[in-house]
Amino acid sequence: MRRNKYFSLMVIVVTALSLTLAGCGSSTAGGDKGPIVVKFAHVTTPDSPKGMAANKFKELAEQKTNGKVKVEVYPSSQLYGDKEELEAVQSGNVQIIAPSVTKLVGMNPQFQYVDLPFLFPNNEAVYKFWESDVNKKLMNSLDKYNVMGLAMWPNGFKQFTNKVRPLVEPKDFNGIKFRTQAGKVLEAQFSALGAGSATIAFGETYAALQQGTVEGQENTFNNIDTQKYQEVQPYLTVSNHGRIDYMIIVNKSFWDGLPADIRKALDEAMAEATKYEIQQAEILDQKSMENLKNSGKMQFTVLNEAQLAAFQQAMQPVYTQFESVIGKDLIEAAKAASKK
Ligand code: LMR
Repeated sequence: MRRNKYFSLMVIVVTALSLTLAGCGSSTAGGDKGPIVVKFAHVTTPDSPKGMAANKFKELAEQKTNGKVKVEVYPSSQLYGDKEELEAVQSGNVQIIAPSVTKLVGMNPQFQYVDLPFLFPNNEAVYKFWESDVNKKLMNSLDKYNVMGLAMWPNGFKQFTNKVRPLVEPKDFNGIKFRTQAGKVLEAQFSALGAGSATIAFGETYAALQQGTVEGQENTFNNIDTQKYQEVQPYLTVSNHGRIDYMIIVNKSFWDGLPADIRKALDEAMAEATKYEIQQAEILDQKSMENLKNSGKMQFTVLNEAQLAAFQQAMQPVYTQFESVIGKDLIEAAKAASKK
C-alpha cells in the first residue's frame, strides 16, 4: 500500500518534470531540443498587408536561421482578439503581435497620437516620423510590460463608413454610433462631430455593424475590403482623417534570452519583412479602394478641400483636449515630419 503511494508520487513528479522541460524546449531552447518556436498572432486576414508580411517574416526567419526557428503565424484573431493578444504577449503565451498602435493606449496613452485628426498629410510624413527619436523612445517605452517594439508597419489612412446616410459635412455625423478601436481620442473625435461611439474588438466588428450595435466605423480601404464591411455599410466617405499603423511587439524576456546569432537573423528577417509590408500596404490600399468602388455596394463620397477644412475645424478641439496626454514634443515631431 505504502510502496504504491510512493510509486504514484514518483510518477507524478517525473511526469510534471518532463512536461515542464518539454514546454521550455518548444519556445526557448532550440538546438537539440528542437526548433525555437515563435508564435506570431494578429487580427487581420492573411491577404492584408500585415498578414502577408507576417508570412514573409516566417519564411525569412526560418530560412535565415536554417530552421533553428519555427514561426507559427495565427491570423484573423484565430488565437487571440485585440485585448487578449496584449495579455498573451506580456505573459509569453505568444512571442510576437502586431497591434495597431492605438491599441497600446493602456500601456502608454501617448500612442493615441496616431488618432489625432489630420495629423499626417501623407505616407511619407508617417515614415519620416517613425525615424524620429520621439518614436524610437515610444517603441522602447513598454519595458515594464515586458514587451518592446521591433518595427513599425503601415496599413494606411482611415475612411468613414456607415449605414445611415452619406457623410459629407460634420453635421451628418449627428446621432450615428461608430465603432472605435480603443482609447479616448477616438471617442472625443466622434463626440466633436456629435456622434456616439463604442469600443469593439476588430474580430467582432462585422457582427456589430450587421446587427446594428453600431452603425458606422472608420478604417483603411484594405481593412474595409478584407473584412467585407461593404456588405453592411452602404456609405463610404474618403476623408483620410487618421491612420492605422502597427507596432510589431515582442515579449522582451524571450527576445533578450535568444542566442545572439538567432536574434541577429530575426532582426534581419524583420527588416526585410518591413520593407515588403510597406510596399504591400501601398499597393493594397489602392487595390482595395478599387475593389470597394467596383463592388457596386457602396456609395463613395470624396471630400473636397472646403469639406475637409470643415472637418478639420470641427475636430480641432481634440488637439486641445489631448495635447497634455500625448505630449507637445510628440505632436511637434509629427508636424515636423509632415513638412517638406
Ligand atoms: C482595427 O481594429 O480596426 C484595426 O486596428 C485592425 C488591424 O489590425 O488593422
